[in-house]
Amino acid sequence: MNVPVVDLKAQYAALKDEVDAALRRACENSWFSLGPEVEQFERDWAAFCGVAHCVAVNSGTSALHLALEALGIGEGDEVVTTAMSFFATAEAIVYTGARPVFVDVAPETFCLDPALIEDVLTERTRAVMPVHLFGHPADMGAIREIADRHELAVVEDAAQAHGAECRGRRVGGIGNVGCFSFYVTKNLGAFGEAGACTTDDPALAERLRLLRNHGRSGGYHHELVGYNCRMPGFQGAVLNVKLKRLEEWTRRRRRIVAAYSEGLAQTPLLLPAEAEGCRSAWHLYVVRCQERDALKAHLEQAGVAAVIHYPAPMSELHALKDHDFAQTPLPEARKMAARALSLPIYPEMSDEQVEYVIGTIKGFF
Ligand SMILES: Cc1ncc(COP(=O)(O)O)c(C=O)c1O
Repeated sequence: MNVPVVDLKAQYAALKDEVDAALRRACENSWFSLGPEVEQFERDWAAFCGVAHCVAVNSGTSALHLALEALGIGEGDEVVTTAMSFFATAEAIVYTGARPVFVDVAPETFCLDPALIEDVLTERTRAVMPVHLFGHPADMGAIREIADRHELAVVEDAAQAHGAECRGRRVGGIGNVGCFSFYVTKNLGAFGEAGACTTDDPALAERLRLLRNHGRSGGYHHELVGYNCRMPGFQGAVLNVKLKRLEEWTRRRRRIVAAYSEGLAQTPLLLPAEAEGCRSAWHLYVVRCQERDALKAHLEQAGVAAVIHYPAPMSELHALKDHDFAQTPLPEARKMAARALSLPIYPEMSDEQVEYVIGTIKGFF
């Protein structure tokens, strides 16, 4: 049996008629850059996240970058973030000229540990950027409380956490601004690159709209120096079709999680679980294993794709070798880098494939 990381061909096959019609409609109406499909998606995504405004952009990385710029963060500023994420989280901070300050993760959730934030605050700290990693919300109650006390902005990197909830509130609507990626493999994935910012702040939404489109306020009037980060019309068309399936896909993810958690309970693996008051989007199912590399090789030999998210804290990546980044000690991040392994989880995964993964892991032990 073969179990890939995701199965985008199966997803397309299930949606082909609707997606093809949406793409044809975009072609026939020349809705190529922004346009009605994107505007529809902005309304629906804002409603899904429980916020007043959504600004669609061309990637999750752009969403993070523009969010920081819209908040006025730049040269000389510091932004506190987690040591463990996809590199775009740190890159977006570096783009603005600000300095990322890396904090260790809480081992239960793999997300930024709020108890460590105050240790790294300086008079230059302007924002905290938690990442809802693998779909699990960061501890937003504690993070908001610290941020409010120190007058810091909160930028949520919700790239992996579509629809995740923290005490009944959807992520992306808890901080000052939420940033989403709709990269192909995300829970809600475009046909290529796409992203969005969400916020309840109308002035921030207006600034984000200007920044994504050359600072353009209409015609050839430019209010500020912006970027070209517009969402293509095709991506809006695809996202509108797929958004209708997202809740159903998340329910399927939850059933796979229940099967994994039951089937793997008697193994030596440390299994992921939702923290109290949290609802994960279960973008990834990440276990921890002392013999991680051997288990990964065993799974791959049996046709099961297993991925390491992520092999090192971001502060240790080659790309940042010339930077002298401030950070708290990172013992939990290092442990995670050495032991974490992501098992396949995607809505189109069959019960037989789930059982096969469980059986293969049991066979290893
Ligand atoms: C946590 C996180 N932040 C940011 C990004 C960047 O998003 P994009 O690839 O859409 O630029 C990603 C995903 O790729 C991500 O997983």
